[in-house]
Amino acid sequence: MNERDTLKVNNKGHLEIGGMDAVEIAKIYGTPVYVFDEAHIRNMMRVYKHTIEKFYKSNGLVVYASKAFSCMAVYAIAQSEGIGVDVVSGGELYTAIKAGFDSSKIYMHGNNKLPHELKLAIDNKIGTIVLDSYREVDMVDELAQQNGIIQNVLIRINPGVEAHTHEFIQTARTDSKFGFSVSDGAAQSITEYVLSKKNLRLRGFHCHIGSQIFETQSFIIAARKVMDFIAIIKKETGFESDTLNIGGGFGIWYNDEDPKLKLSDYENCLKSLINAVKEKAQEHGLNEPFLVIEPGRSIIGEAGITLYTVGAIKDIKGIKKYVAVDGGMFDNPRYALYQSKYTVMLANRASEPCTEKVSVAGKCCESGDLIAVDVSLPKAESGDIMAVLSTGAYNYSMASNYNRNFIPAAILVKDGKAEYIVKPQTYDDIIRNDVVPEYLK
Ligand code: LLP
Repeated sequence: MNERDTLKVNNKGHLEIGGMDAVEIAKIYGTPVYVFDEAHIRNMMRVYKHTIEKFYKSNGLVVYASKAFSCMAVYAIAQSEGIGVDVVSGGELYTAIKAGFDSSKIYMHGNNKLPHELKLAIDNKIGTIVLDSYREVDMVDELAQQNGIIQNVLIRINPGVEAHTHEFIQTARTDSKFGFSVSDGAAQSITEYVLSKKNLRLRGFHCHIGSQIFETQSFIIAARKVMDFIAIIKKETGFESDTLNIGGGFGIWYNDEDPKLKLSDYENCLKSLINAVKEKAQEHGLNEPFLVIEPGRSIIGEAGITLYTVGAIKDIKGIKKYVAVDGGMFDNPRYALYQSKYTVMLANRASEPCTEKVSVAGKCCESGDLIAVDVSLPKAESGDIMAVLSTGAYNYSMASNYNRNFIPAAILVKDGKAEYIVKPQTYDDIIRNDVVPEYLK
């Protein structure tokens, strides 16, 4: 147990999250349900914020990457912690605005932002747009001109760092669809182009090397490379970047193959990154840039669990045992996409020893609809409440209505009390946008 542990086993032998009995939660709210521990979310936001205050004289901003989990309540939490948010679509931006989020602290990302998304951003006076194509440079410049403003922008560059993570979540390799590569001169050319635009104010550069990364060294190498690039640009064009946005990507614990990091580990990682930036600023005679970090997974991932009810159990003797739950790839597609591993428990029998290896199957009509493969559990029975841990990031946000299943509700727990933050869907929600043309009736 460390200070970030949101989970306990209580004296009934039940799993407890944020001071609430998970079995009780399942009874009140039904399953499947996403459960988030507010204290855990705030602790993570604070550790990054305090590290920048303490070791970088508050010269920076923590920006929660809301693609990890976006709903109005999470923006309200971020706002109350005084941090920024990153959005990657009109939908995330709209949610943040409707939650009353201070738009000057919003960063907008995306490799192909749509005209209507950029318009929504600029009409709402978004703080910073992170440019990722020539087309976008022109569109943002034009919209800013129409609105009579000068828009703050960053350019996403690609420093060519390979981080050790799943290839689909690596984003700064030279062949990535994201960013302008430093090595082939593309990053410098786009910089010159942006500098020529009257309605854009270039603040600096952004890079994001990938996700679920544990090697601090990868972040340091990326930061050094971007600082070297800033120095080159200053020499070649006279423009000195005042912002360095190093993206997110800090890893979390999913199962025992992952380290379980303490708050101080996240602090140390960020501190090392800060030191690397300071050293490079000194080496090149640059000002220390305003430092932006964009953690998503590490803020929300371990704060969330998903509760399911065990249904069918299929024992293929000597081959495999499936325990099916009332959810599946529609609430958590990460096994199907990345063969992700999770820790699974029986919330109503949390102190019982694990006696068998099973695979947890969803209810979709698809063999690959699995939540976890070969995990240890006590002998599960229909009706048991299953908890899958560390599902706070990229579960709800990647959920779908596949097979016309409901996207589960989400609740927030704090000091033993729970509140809906996303209400359950109904069958009417499922057919809400369906239309049967007259001639088919
Ligand atoms: N900033 C940018 C520009 C990003 O693209 C991302 C994530 C982040 C920040 C936040 O990274 P984090 O701190 O959450 O690692 N669906 C995948 C993850 C995709 C991450 C995409 N970009 C998954 O389920 O693992």
